Amino acid sequence: MAKVSFRNVWKKYGDLPAVKDLNIECPDGSFLSILGPSGCGKSSTMRMVAGLEHITAGQILFDERPINNLAPKDRDVAMVFENYALYPHKSVFENMANPLKLRGQDPDRIKERVTAAANLLEISELLQRRPQELSGGQKQRVAIGRAIVREPNLFLFDEPIAHLDAKLRAHMRGEIKHLQRTLGTTMIYVTHDQLEAMSMADQIAVMHEGELQQLGTPREVYNKPVNAWVAGFVGEPAMNFVDVGLQHKADKIHFTHPNFSIAVTEEQQRLLTAGTWPNALRMGIRPDAMSISMTRPKGDHITGKIFVTELLGGDMIVDVDLEDSRIRVKTSTEFEGLEGETCYMTVNRDKWHAFSKDTGSAVY
Ligand SMILES: Nc1ncnc2c1ncn2[C@@H]1O[C@H](COP(=O)(O)OP(=O)(O)OP(=O)(O)O)[C@@H](O)[C@H]1O
Ligand SMILES: [Mg+2]
Repeated sequence: MAKVSFRNVWKKYGDLPAVKDLNIECPDGSFLSILGPSGCGKSSTMRMVAGLEHITAGQILFDERPINNLAPKDRDVAMVFENYALYPHKSVFENMANPLKLRGQDPDRIKERVTAAANLLEISELLQRRPQELSGGQKQRVAIGRAIVREPNLFLFDEPIAHLDAKLRAHMRGEIKHLQRTLGTTMIYVTHDQLEAMSMADQIAVMHEGELQQLGTPREVYNKPVNAWVAGFVGEPAMNFVDVGLQHKADKIHFTHPNFSIAVTEEQQRLLTAGTWPNALRMGIRPDAMSISMTRPKGDHITGKIFVTELLGGDMIVDVDLEDSRIRVKTSTEFEGLEGETCYMTVNRDKWHAFSKDTGSAVY
């Protein structure tokens, strides 16, 4: 087991920086998810940890010990990739036993460890089959089994369940999280699926174009995104963004827009007036932080026109047109508004966000 630290880590391929000045502390025994879109540098980061890729600058440390110059086999990490890379002509047992065999461990001990891992992953009855006789989810479990029999210091999982079907993915999310908790082994888990990161990780490192945007618990990243990019990437359906003006009315600051004028809370007013006042603001609000009604409410509200309604499982998503943008609101399936009708949204002001329109950074 190991604490993993990234200190000012860079990866360049020629002149192209794929990872820029990465700083992360991943405590011993914890589950870190690296989350970001395709090409943001997730696999490059993992490959540097595994020793499959040279670290251009900076240091990666295990328990404060720099590992930059350590050979991959001496790092004691086990990796699982999306393509499980099982040996087609070996049985499940032989596939799982392989890393131990290579280390010259005695056959009785190998059998004991493979059996224990197979029990944990509920694949004991598959040990004599070959990979082509397995489903995608079963193959994935064998690949994970092969990683855990080694009892490594660190697990590196790179999109291990990305191409399984939705139901199996949901199941495997739970399994992998449980497995990590049971074994207590430090885990770095790469995904571009925010739901996976949100549901499994202790800490999420959100990356974009090679740069760490935010490191925080799933709750922090969801509730207090540091910029509009993170806010828009995390959460489904995505956060709505609307450009707003600011106006003082009777000592209160209002967000103004052709479709509304709503006073901010006292705390938000304090934050907006402290420090440098951004030139232009972008208001962010999640679809479930508003309520929608067909009758005009008494208090401050947004007026819009229904574009379309969609059923999404037990919820309804209403797309609403404003003058210059379209927002999405989550409501109950009992909602009866029709396309083209005027509707009214009341905002939960404790849950709306303000970003600088120029830089994207969160004002609050
Ligand atoms: N061996 C390489 N040589 C040159 N450029 C590379 C190499 N490997 C990756 N890159 C580039 O570095 C950037 C980061 O790639 P990386 O594989 O780390 O992204 P990723 O976040 O894992 O993406 P994905 O979600 O698609 O797997 C990309 O622009 C990619 O094209
Ligand atoms: Mg990748």
